[in-house]
Amino acid sequence: MKAVILAGGTGSRLMPLTKLLNKHLLPVGRLPMISYGIQKLKEAGVTEILLVTSRQAAGAFIQFLGSGREAGVSLTYRIQEEAGGIAQALELARPFVGSNRKFMVLLGDNLFEEKLGPHIEAFEQQPAGAMVLLKEVPDPERYGVPVFDAEGAILKIEEKPKQPANNWCVTGIYCFDDQVFEYIASIEPSQRGELEITDVNNAYAGRGMLEYSYMHGWWTDAGTFESLQEAALKLAGPMP
Ligand code: DAU
Repeated sequence: MKAVILAGGTGSRLMPLTKLLNKHLLPVGRLPMISYGIQKLKEAGVTEILLVTSRQAAGAFIQFLGSGREAGVSLTYRIQEEAGGIAQALELARPFVGSNRKFMVLLGDNLFEEKLGPHIEAFEQQPAGAMVLLKEVPDPERYGVPVFDAEGAILKIEEKPKQPANNWCVTGIYCFDDQVFEYIASIEPSQRGELEITDVNNAYAGRGMLEYSYMHGWWTDAGTFESLQEAALKLAGPMP
């Protein structure tokens, strides 16, 4: 299976650090943030990886990661000219993914303990559609929150709801079939002017095609000072 890591965006919640450095190149423990997602994919046997990042940051990523050889992966790069949302960044993966393929997407600021292998295997068994990974969190209003029906299927996802339906968060680890690109083409920018990954996931949910599985172990998005610090503590040990 191929994978896409999204590492564009503005990192506005980490200003002024991100004036100097793209969020995903900031140090977390002994490595830049981007290294952890690559390691997790490699550990799961996923070595064909597309990295989407901004024009300003691309040079630094290439300088650090090159072809991916040192990390034991094969990297392809695409540039997101303006930060128009996660789904807009994902759209750039269309030629890399090709047709009739399933693939995995990681948001580059998501750091976690669990191995990805079992989740990839579960998605490979799924005939079609998408799969999201859920994690129970104390602050669901910061995230996409799933709303379940009586049978426990995801009815829809609410993005950063003021009154969350429950304490589950949709993490930035997604599995899609190639139908995702049709759904991205069909959505409109949100109120904050972005093509939202939640709208894409809701296109799957509306057709009963959004499965989910649970993340065990710690998980954090490192997009704020607090969560960046939390991640640095978790990953402070010797290099894996
Ligand atoms: O971390 C999980 C959450 O990520 C989900 O629960 C939400 O449903 C999802 O919308 C997303 O929320 P955030 O507000 O945290 O997303 P953020 O704008 O911080 O973007 C997350 C990553 O996506 C970021 O590290 C880089 C990538 N990205 C983002 C944007 C807006 C891009 O590559 N390009 C973009 O234009």
